[in-house]
Amino acid sequence: MKIRKKMLPVCSPSGGKEEIKAISKVIKSNWFGKGPLVNQFEKEFAKKVGVKYAIAVTSNTHGLDLVLKALNINNGNIINPTISFLTTAVVPIWNNCSTNIVDVDPHTLCIDPEQVKKSINSDTKAIISVNLNGVMSPIDEIRKFYKGLIIEDCAHCAPGYATAGQKGDIAVWSFQATKLMTSGDGGMITLNDEKLYNKLKKLTWFGITQTYDRLNKKDNTSNKPGYAWDYSADIIGYKCYMIDLTAALCLEQMKKLPKHVKLRQHIQTRYNNELHKIIKCPPWSETVQHYSIKVPSKYRTDLINYLASKNIHTSVHYKPMHLHPGLTPYFTNKTQNYPVANKEWEKLLSLPCHPVMKEKDIDYVIYWVNNYFKDKYNEK
Ligand SMILES: Cc1ncc(COP(=O)(O)O)c(C=O)c1O
Repeated sequence: MKIRKKMLPVCSPSGGKEEIKAISKVIKSNWFGKGPLVNQFEKEFAKKVGVKYAIAVTSNTHGLDLVLKALNINNGNIINPTISFLTTAVVPIWNNCSTNIVDVDPHTLCIDPEQVKKSINSDTKAIISVNLNGVMSPIDEIRKFYKGLIIEDCAHCAPGYATAGQKGDIAVWSFQATKLMTSGDGGMITLNDEKLYNKLKKLTWFGITQTYDRLNKKDNTSNKPGYAWDYSADIIGYKCYMIDLTAALCLEQMKKLPKHVKLRQHIQTRYNNELHKIIKCPPWSETVQHYSIKVPSKYRTDLINYLASKNIHTSVHYKPMHLHPGLTPYFTNKTQNYPVANKEWEKLLSLPCHPVMKEKDIDYVIYWVNNYFKDKYNEK
């Protein structure tokens, strides 16, 4: 097969005239900041997830940070899986907590409930359960022996798919550049607890009533619509709310989710059926945020370079957290072992999987991956 000229990316956002139109409308409205589109996005998102409340923020990372701050979790220990992005271990450290990284299930690579059970102690303040690559993590199993707070990381999920956001006490989502629905960056917190919702909402902007609301609210003194200049901060808050420019993109991306997810599932099905039998395909995911195969670890680097020479970009999701030297001083249990993650992560390789891919791109990836192993295993 002829080598393509342009690199095929491993992840890619997909936007078009709908997003351009939505952004133009915001610009022409003369209000770029937090306003009616953020409110609309929050309402529609919560409805799709099947929860009462949603709070749009600047990222999953800052959403998680805000949750810990709202709940006054500023010491103690937080349990999370070693295979995830840095956020899940680093944000507890920002909040003065130690992080108890535990091993994962060999098949799903989500947190292993048995390891969670062994790690819980009187210092445990929360468990962060990551739905890795869109595969639901074992929250029901953890609930059988743990009654405390479970934060569900839905960075690889989309609202309305599988049970995402329905099992944890609170869920944090991501609209970062490579995610299923993206605005370049952005995040959402979803929950059912009204009191916590009200506190989180306040914390997104120094505890101040939003400017847009003040602009359009009837003035307290004159009772006429106008700019109520006064505000009062009765709490130390932060600054991490979403703005209308971002919400406009998110609303359009959310409309496209059914089409985009269908395409990702189609790629997943083709890869599952047509990749060389030496490859271990990942567990079925409804959203397929990453299509992460397992190959014999001795071939991984060579395969990455081989595919790069064919202009196919690949990646690894993720290098375990316990292998990052900057994090280990903050681990509670420094003698903890990670036999599963250590063995499995060296086999991981994410292949291109995104809605910009055409049928010929899927053919192209399958051809070159199979070709690599055909040579290796000397098949006809
Ligand atoms: C599993 C997981 N959690 C959290 C995050 C952080 O998301 P954000 O970039 O929106 O902060 C990511 C982003 O890559 C992720 O993959």
